[in-house]
Formats: sequence, structure tokens, C-alpha cells
Amino acid sequence: MNIVQVSAELAPWSKTGGLGDVCGALPQALVARGHRVLAIAPRYKDYDNAWDTGVRARIHLFGHTHEIAYFHLNQGGVDHLFIDHPSFRRPGIYGDDQGTYGDNLFRFALLCRAALEAPLRVPLGGEVLGEEVLFHCNDWHTGLLPVFLEGIYRSAGRYPRAPAVLAIHNAGHHGVYEAHEFAGLDVSTRWWPACDMSGRLNCLKAGVVLASKLVTVSPTYARQLCIDHGHGLEGFFTHRAQDLWGILNGIGDEWNPATDRHLDTPFSAEDLSGKAAQKAALQKELGLPARPEVPLFGVVARLDHQKGIDLLMGAAPWLLRQDAQLVVLGSGGAAYEDFVRRLAREAPSRARGVVGFSEALAHRIEAGADLFLMPSRFEPCGLNQLYSLRYGTVPIVHATGGLADTVQTWDPTTQTGNGWAFREFSSDAFVSAMHYALRTWWDHPDAWKRIQQNGMARDSGWARAAELYEALYLSAWGR
Ligand code: ADP
Ligand code: GLC
Repeated sequence: MNIVQVSAELAPWSKTGGLGDVCGALPQALVARGHRVLAIAPRYKDYDNAWDTGVRARIHLFGHTHEIAYFHLNQGGVDHLFIDHPSFRRPGIYGDDQGTYGDNLFRFALLCRAALEAPLRVPLGGEVLGEEVLFHCNDWHTGLLPVFLEGIYRSAGRYPRAPAVLAIHNAGHHGVYEAHEFAGLDVSTRWWPACDMSGRLNCLKAGVVLASKLVTVSPTYARQLCIDHGHGLEGFFTHRAQDLWGILNGIGDEWNPATDRHLDTPFSAEDLSGKAAQKAALQKELGLPARPEVPLFGVVARLDHQKGIDLLMGAAPWLLRQDAQLVVLGSGGAAYEDFVRRLAREAPSRARGVVGFSEALAHRIEAGADLFLMPSRFEPCGLNQLYSLRYGTVPIVHATGGLADTVQTWDPTTQTGNGWAFREFSSDAFVSAMHYALRTWWDHPDAWKRIQQNGMARDSGWARAAELYEALYLSAWGR
């Protein structure tokens, strides 16, 4: 199958969260199954080894013609195409210190149009991919691709069969703009009803209505989208429930404690001694007392409403009174960043907070912590709990979305479970789960080992997900 994946983020070149990770990893797993994958994303800066193909496209949007260039890099068997245009070459992906960029509708509409031109124009290995392709869109940034596919190409007889699948990584962001902006998209007003949500242009909704198939990143979130987590689009998701799949994300090989290049002492389920050394190294790095016996809690997250940081703030007074340590890495909302900055001042011997984005420290926290906290308000899939499970770092999560699908509460009678998943979204429920975890840590070391082993035994590789995506694509082709 020829698959064209289109996304605003593509790790390792661009990433603010899991969207980048997933779009970077899934194509490789699909290639391993024998598919041809073209992964398309903006060229936010100059990327090493990505060469100018010399191919140009002139795209009409918002009353002007814009010339874009295609840069190419084949890596891991995947053809990566980076769309070059001055509007992409900025410090941030979506915005900067001044806030969200005002022309994001234009920027991501341009990405969609450039992606639709790519299979027709860019020769890869001698020839263009042609019209027998499947477009795999991701989140609101590519929600308009099905609109352009129908309104510009199909109506002119191009791409007669090509399906567009829309993957929803986060329904909390819709890409909402004033209705008059629709005129700038250069498609017939026939397509306005699909884009219209309460009198405004809604990119995610357009994709939800027009894509051949929908997929989200866990079975539970697929159900929640239809019930109470659709952020106003519940009715549209319910209407398309038959076409809405839930496929759990995998995680890449860079998150393997035995080979992790960010760790000085790699480890595995068979031999956890390296993990103890990582804990000691993390305590030293952050200036915490070197105490192997106390449980160390870790958090790595975008500091966003979604992540339930308010629950963590509510639970912190209790947590910081325990004989335990807490390390938080994150960036985002100002109030949350303040909380993280204050941690070391409030509990100098127990807590450290680092405001920022650091891939290396994220790996060292996953490796060195004993427990990992994810009290997310909603979580389409979540990758950090999957990393935690693989690193023997016991997760405590709010039982929502992909967290509910991957973390099972420890049951001492059956010796099953790999962490704690609390149901009610409250600081009390969160504290109660942490309380159980601490009791288990202190009083039942054998049970603790079993919980770690249960987690580490989970297969979180991409192979299974890729198999399911293949089935989804086949159903989108009507096969
Ligand atoms: P989301 O995509 O909603 O942010 P995920 O759990 O799916 O949540 O993925 C988050 C990804 O971003 C993980 O790879 C995580 O390690 C990374 N990440 C988040 N915040 C930071 C940070 N401050 N520093 C480094 N990595 C981070
Ligand atoms: C989103 C979600 C997260 C998911 C990630 C990758 O950012 O918030 O839960 O893991 O996308 O699909």
C-alpha cells in the first residue's frame, strides 16, 4: 500500500508531545510490514541530510499564490518530505513567547495542499507515487485535507479512489476560525456545511465529517469521544462510531532501558541493578539526598490543563510530607510552572522541579524514578505510562483514555496489575492511590518486584499497532 502520512510534528525533527513521537515511529513499523510510506511535515528549520528535491508547487490560498519546495530524506526505509515555506521557518511549531501564531490556519492549510500535491509531483526512486495512495491525516492541523481532497481534486477527477483517514490524538484542539476565513481556502461553498461548527470554521470537525475512516489512539478514548470527551463534537463522533477505530500507540526503540543512550547504566527486567544506579545518579544530578530506600516519584509532562497538574498541586502537600522524593519536569502554563519552580524551596530534601523541555532528562527520570504520576484529566493514549512500564517505573494514573487501557491496578490476591489507576478525578482519589502504592513499597517488597515485572513484560512495540493500522487502511479502501 502507498501511504501518505501528514502531520504538524514529526520526531525527531519536530515535536512538542506524543504526536511527534507517533508520527515519527508508525511509518517505520508500516514499512516493516511491506508498505511504502511518505511522511510529510513542515520544514521548520534546516534539517541535516534533507535535500532539496528541486520540485516546486504553486498553491493558491487566501488570495495569493505561494510557492513551496519539497525537501527529501529517506531514513529507516521511510521517505520523509519536508515542506519548505517561509511561514514554517519560525522558532516554534504553533507559536512563540507572544502566543499562538495568527496565521496557523494558512500554515496548516498550506501543509495539506502541499501534501496533496506531493504524490503527483515528487519523484521518489525515479517515479511519482501517483493517485493510488491513502492519506493518513493527524489532528486538526490536517483536518482540512479531506476538504481539499474532495473540493479541489476529486471534483476535478483526480484521486478518484484515494481514501483519507483522520487520526485524532487530541480532540481538545479543533482549529477554530471565523467563518469568513473559509473563502481563503479556495474551495466551493458546497463544502462549508462540513466545516461549519456553530457558525465558525472548525478544522477538526471538517475532518471528522469527511474522512473515510477515523482512528484514535486508544479504544477507551474512542468510546469517550462519543460520550463526554469529544469537546463538543460528541454527536459527530457518535454519528461516525462505526468508522471510528481505537488503536493503542506503541513506543519506539529509543525507549528501551537496555539500550537507552541517555543512561549510564542500562538495565533490563532480568537485572534491575542498573536501575538502582540510575536512581542514585538522578538524585545526585538534581541535588536530592542519596537515599536508595525512599520511593522516588517522577513526572514528565506538558504542563497543561489536560494533564491534571491541578490534581498534583492538590496532592502535593500530602505527598511532600511522606518519606519520599518527587521530581517534576515540564513546561507550559505559567501557574503550573510556578508550582514546579517552588517545589525545591518548599521541600528542599524531598522535591525538585525543572521547568523546560529536555529529552535526556525525561529519559533519566523514567529510568531513575520508582513511580510515575499521570493524573490526566483526559488522555487519548499517553506515552509516558508506556515508557514507565518498560522501565520498571510503576505508574499511578487517572483511569481515563489510554491510561485506563494500559495500567491495571495491582491486585495482591491474583498478583495481577502493573500500577494503580484511580477512577474518580479528584486529589483525594489520587492521594489514596499513592497511599496504597507507598504501603506496598514499604511493606511488600516482593509484591513491588512483581508489579515491576508485570509492567516490563508488556509488549509496547509498534508491530501490533501497525498490523491494526493496516487493517484500518484496508477497510478505508473498502477491502
Ligand atoms: P502528550 O502528547 O499529550 O504531551 P504523551 O504522553 O503522548 O502526551 O507524550 C508526551 C511526550 O512528550 C513524551 O515523549 C514525553 O516524554 C515528552 N515530553 C513532554 N514534556 C516533556 C519535557 N518537558 N521534556 C522532555 N520531554 C517531554
Ligand atoms: C496526544 C495525546 C496523547 C497521545 C499523543 C500521541 O498529544 O494527548 O495522549 O499519546 O497524542 O498519540
